[in-house]
Amino acid sequence: MKITDLKVDIHGRQILKGVSVSLHEGRVHGLAGESGSGKTMTGLAALGLLPHGARATGSILHNGRNLLELPAKELNKVRGGEVAMVFQDPATSLHPMLTVGRQLTEHMRHHLGLGKVEARERAVDLLSKVRIPGAAEAYGRYPHQFSGGMRQRIAIAIALACSPRVLIADEPTTALDVTVQAGILRLLRGLCDELGLAVLLVTHDLGVMSAVADEVSVMKDGLIVETGPRAHVLRTPDHPYTRTLLSSLPDHTPLPTPTPTPASAPAPDHPAAPSPDAVPNPEPGHPGDPTRSPRPDDPVVPAPDPNPDGPVAPAPDPGPERSVAPEPDIAPTPDRGTESDPAPGTASDEERS
Ligand SMILES: Nc1ncnc2c1ncn2[C@@H]1O[C@H](COP(=O)(O)OP(=O)(O)OP(=O)(O)O)[C@@H](O)[C@H]1O
Ligand SMILES: [Mg+2]
Repeated sequence: MKITDLKVDIHGRQILKGVSVSLHEGRVHGLAGESGSGKTMTGLAALGLLPHGARATGSILHNGRNLLELPAKELNKVRGGEVAMVFQDPATSLHPMLTVGRQLTEHMRHHLGLGKVEARERAVDLLSKVRIPGAAEAYGRYPHQFSGGMRQRIAIAIALACSPRVLIADEPTTALDVTVQAGILRLLRGLCDELGLAVLLVTHDLGVMSAVADEVSVMKDGLIVETGPRAHVLRTPDHPYTRTLLSSLPDHTPLPTPTPTPASAPAPDHPAAPSPDAVPNPEPGHPGDPTRSPRPDDPVVPAPDPNPDGPVAPAPDPGPERSVAPEPDIAPTPDRGTESDPAPGTASDEERS
């Protein structure tokens, strides 16, 4: 998806003043910036969900079509189909009176025209994919029977129901307890790699950025003031506003240059390549490698994670799996020394054991 010179005004007030951003398969593009700078509006525009009274110019190209020019009916097919969104608060994005299975299958039956049995199978498969323990039983439960982290996983499963190519995640971890945030980010990163999704990750948290984004754009007052590879923007920012954002991080210390190793040696155009235990680029031939063709023995369901919402600690050996660990100097989530999602009285505690 390529957004070019997107300008949005609502009742005469200019909200976006010429935003350009490109999303690519298997890449996470982080969008940071102060409150009211237009991050959500950019995501909504990409989904064709601008509020009433909004006028948009520029282009949002996806699959050769400009979404800004699509008739409502066509746009409806794109929304929730090719382009999906995960919102900040899973409590409001899930219907409290409908089972998880119903919410997943209605979506699929509407968009994909699947029969009941097929839709159920796919729903259980998706619940496993987002690492809901006991997916078959979870299918018949209601949202309130899950903890916050698990509810956000379910919201992500619903977003994936129709195999989107683009996923807009607007502050997907902000409403969650810090102890479960890392698990959700790890899941998003894994899905991006595994499914080749193009992800726009909206967050005001630069620590989150450093943990998962490949590219980062920084917004201010309806404009992108800086964009580039994560390591460049977060370590050697060009724009004074990015520097202000970085210096406002708690315990901000100057960013060290990582020790060069064959895997992390700085490329000439990337003065500070990310450390290998941050988010390494997929190794050639690994399922995350965008150039690799799918193989019949590729896993459909990721390896079970006994504690999917636990904080992400840097793995001693990154191994073949991509880990999502924040760069050491920009930690989004303080380690509280707990490994469980603490919501009491929810199904997740027993399910996770
Ligand atoms: N429905 C609406 N009608 C009119 N103005 C709106 C509407 N929604 C948002 N705005 C305005 O558009 C601007 C950008 O809002 P947006 O929600 O995109 O900011 P944001 O960067 O996502 O902020 P936050 O970090 O607080 O979520 C704000 O000034 C906001 O007041
Ligand atoms: Mg917002």
